This record gives sequence, structure tokens and C-alpha cells, in this order.
Amino acid sequence: MIETQDFEIIRKTESTISNIDFGNLPFGRVFSDHMFIANYSNGQWNRASIKPYGDIPVSPAMSAIHYGQSIFEGLKAFKTNAGQVLVFRPEMNWERMNNSAERLCMPAIPKEYFLDGIRQLVTLDRDWVPKDSSCSLYIRPFMFATDPFLGVKPSQSYTFMIISSPVGPYYAKPLHLKVETKYTRAALGGVGFAKAAGNYGSAMYPAQLAQKEGIDQLIWTDAKEHKYIEEAGTMNMMVVIDGKLLTTPLTSTILPGVTRDSFLTLAKEAGYPVEERRISVEEIIVAQQTGKLTEIFGVGTAATIAQVEKLSFEDKTYQLSEISTREISNKIGKQLMDIKSGDAADSRAWNMGVL
Ligand code: COI
Repeated sequence: MIETQDFEIIRKTESTISNIDFGNLPFGRVFSDHMFIANYSNGQWNRASIKPYGDIPVSPAMSAIHYGQSIFEGLKAFKTNAGQVLVFRPEMNWERMNNSAERLCMPAIPKEYFLDGIRQLVTLDRDWVPKDSSCSLYIRPFMFATDPFLGVKPSQSYTFMIISSPVGPYYAKPLHLKVETKYTRAALGGVGFAKAAGNYGSAMYPAQLAQKEGIDQLIWTDAKEHKYIEEAGTMNMMVVIDGKLLTTPLTSTILPGVTRDSFLTLAKEAGYPVEERRISVEEIIVAQQTGKLTEIFGVGTAATIAQVEKLSFEDKTYQLSEISTREISNKIGKQLMDIKSGDAADSRAWNMGVL
């Protein structure tokens, strides 16, 4: 149990919630009334506050802008049928955020700031958590370096913030993915495992080239040989070949997804054979050609379970199995959704009840 923290709370005088069309929520475009903000200087975190959502003043010399000390997280809150608000596995996001922070020479965020920051913020903005089960309140914690200094060295000052946004599905339809074999997202020893802002910026150019060909997203391959699949940048990848659920193991190039971990846990418990191992592109293509590739999908907080209906590799595009026939992703995906939304028992205490 996290103790209630003494945050300064400044309430917004007039909510903007009546302007929001909850029946049509694009991902990440509208923001709830309040935001959490804490500053770090002289080796410590100062008293945090929750205040009306709005712009923040920054120095043009702010080091995050110039050298990229900037990291973030993503998690979701759901409303149960009884009206309770549940946040899914926030402790895992806190741990991952501090792993990212360490890699980028940024300070650790105290657990109580992270968890009670989310709890108090979501409590204040509870009306912003959508009731529709396909929607949620997406919570975005992030930290950036704030020293007004152009020398290349770790900043001495930082800001940690949490904002939130009511969202619908990130991907509205099954995806057409391409296996990327020219560009690289991450190399061993780099920052691929961290949720560093720069990982996303540097992936945009190859993704944009693919989007011009009508492709939705890329599946990245290993930096050395471009032979083994990695992840899709917005989600980890899973395939079912010959009845086995396969996913790439967690190395320094792979983001350790919360949805990835939750899905694997439930699939193992349901008795499906699970292997975390390298998966070559060739293995996937041969399995598709011999009818053994029965499922391919992405797993992520924003993406949830994102089915892949077409796969492009080199100059060929493969039409994949009918989505309704995909037993593991449909079954485990539903089970996971039911736990998050309170429709199924949360036997592992994954949810943090907000109020
Ligand atoms: C998430 O799933 O929370 C992500 O951060 C992926 C993407 C929206 C950047």
C-alpha cells in the first residue's frame, strides 16, 4: 500500500470535459483537466503538484531538446461496470521507467511519486476515464532534462510529469506490416530496451517510407544480420507456429512490454506451449507457406492486441490467416482485457484500484 503523498493540488476552475466526444476518441489528441509535475534539483525531488493541464515554460537551451535525455511510459486506467477505476500494473511501468532513467543518466523516480502521482491525478480526473470497454484513460508519465546548458553531459535538473488522455484503440483495424531489413531500430548494447524518446524519433523515417507504400508499421530485425525479428516499435511481436506461441527474448534491443509479460503469463497458465527465442524471418515465411503460421500479432499498452492481416517481406506480400480463427490471441487477449476492466478475477493483483 502506497502512502498518500503531500502533493500541492490546484484544481481547474472549469473542466473542458463537456467539449469531448467520448464516442469518437482518436489516440492521444485530447487531455484531461489536470497534470502532475515534480522537479528535481540539487540531488533531490521537490514537492510535487497537480495542477490544471497546460503549457509549461522551457529554456531554449534545455538539455533534453539538444541531447535527448528524455524518457516516458504508457499505461492505462479502465472503468469497471460498477464505476471503479483500475490502473493496470503501474509498478511494472515504474520499474521500467527507472531502468530507462539509469541508462540515460537520469535520477530514479521514487515509487510513491509515481504510483500516488497516478492515483491522485486519476482520482481528480476520474470522469475522464471512458465507460466504453474498448476505450480507456491513457496515462503518460515522462521525464526530461532541464539544465539550460549546451555542454554534452548529464543534466543536474529534471522534470517528471504525468498527463492523461481518454483514448480509443491505437490501431483501428488489422495491420499490414513489413519486415524491415535495411534500417535498424536498435543494436545490442544500445538503448532499445529503454523507453527513450529518441528511439521513437529515429524510427519515423523508415516507417514513413513504408507508409507511402500503404504499409501501417514495420517489424524491425536485428542490426547485425537483419535475419531475426525484433519488435514493431509500438508493440512487441508474437507468432504462433505449429501450435507454439513464440516471441523474441528480452535483450538490450527489446522493450520489456507490460502487455508482453502479461500475455505470456496468461498463455503459459492456460497451458499453451510458449518459447522465448530468436525467430528468423525465414522461419515465419516458411511457416506461412506450409500453413503452420496460424497467428501473428503485436502486443502493447496502446496497441493492446493488434492483429496482423498482411505481411510484406522483400518483394512479396502474404495474406495471413483469418483473424476469427486465431485461438491464442483471441482467447488470451479477451482474458487480459477482462482482467483490466474488472470483468474477470484479478488473481495476481495486477490492478491498482484508484477509488
Ligand atoms: C505504449 O504502448 O504505451 C507506447 O508507448 C507505444 C506508443 C504509443 C509510443
